[in-house]
Amino acid sequence: MYKLIDGKKISQEIKDELKEKAAAMKREGKARALAVIQVGDDPASSVYVGNKKKACDYVGIESQTYKLKEETTQEELLELVEKLNADDAVGGILVQLPLPSHINEYKVLTAISPDKDVDGFHPVNVGNLSIGRPGFVSCTPAGVIQLLKRSGIEIEGKECVIIGRSNIVGKPMAMLLLRENATVTVCHSKTKNLKEIAKRADILVAAVGRPKFVTADFVKEGAVVIDVGINRDQNNKLCGDVDFDSVAEHTSAITPVPGGVGPMTVAMLMYNCVEGFCI
Ligand code: GUN
Repeated sequence: MYKLIDGKKISQEIKDELKEKAAAMKREGKARALAVIQVGDDPASSVYVGNKKKACDYVGIESQTYKLKEETTQEELLELVEKLNADDAVGGILVQLPLPSHINEYKVLTAISPDKDVDGFHPVNVGNLSIGRPGFVSCTPAGVIQLLKRSGIEIEGKECVIIGRSNIVGKPMAMLLLRENATVTVCHSKTKNLKEIAKRADILVAAVGRPKFVTADFVKEGAVVIDVGINRDQNNKLCGDVDFDSVAEHTSAITPVPGGVGPMTVAMLMYNCVEGFCI
């Protein structure tokens, strides 16, 4: 019998813990706002931005939402980022991705002051993570670590395999697991013998972006499986990167989609906003 890792419950615990600290910061006059910028009106981005605002309201963090039109120029966006960098009332700046194609994502993300980069995407924060220095950490992989720890799953000494090497999930996930003293392998689209490597994992993290890509033949009996994917299947139903129905019975613990990693991303964003940086 496997354990279902409940991301909804764990994310709620984290937000409730943060509520107290946010209230204390308010009393002491130390509270600072989260500024969220969305360019254009991609429906998925609008949902994510709405969820971030809701979480801020719940935890007690002031939020500012900037919805800019699709035609906004890179210069206009950079001007807003600079204004927010200089504003002492703003503690965190988040530019929702993806950006329209006429805007250079790298230019914008590197314009955000590293000490307000609550997404952990700035090269300074990415670099600090890789050399074991404190800094903001990308929210989704930070959420995976919290899911494991708060479910009593030991990471130290474990063989961890990550499928996917994105800057937002796969690479920071590798650094975080390494920091927890795991042995880490990162697989990607050019990896040979992917199934054999995945099958070595005590902890398998799927962040491929392909619906139900990980099937039972990728999974060692009793492994822990973490599904970072959010996709739609042939029937337009939400599903992860893991074929849950065939995989779950072979695991000792697994995250569902929805209700697994998804809610943790926003909880860890709240953590970054309140704590100033991620553990
Ligand atoms: N788009 C999809 N995920 C994210 C995220 O974690 N942060 C930002 N800024 N944009 C995203």
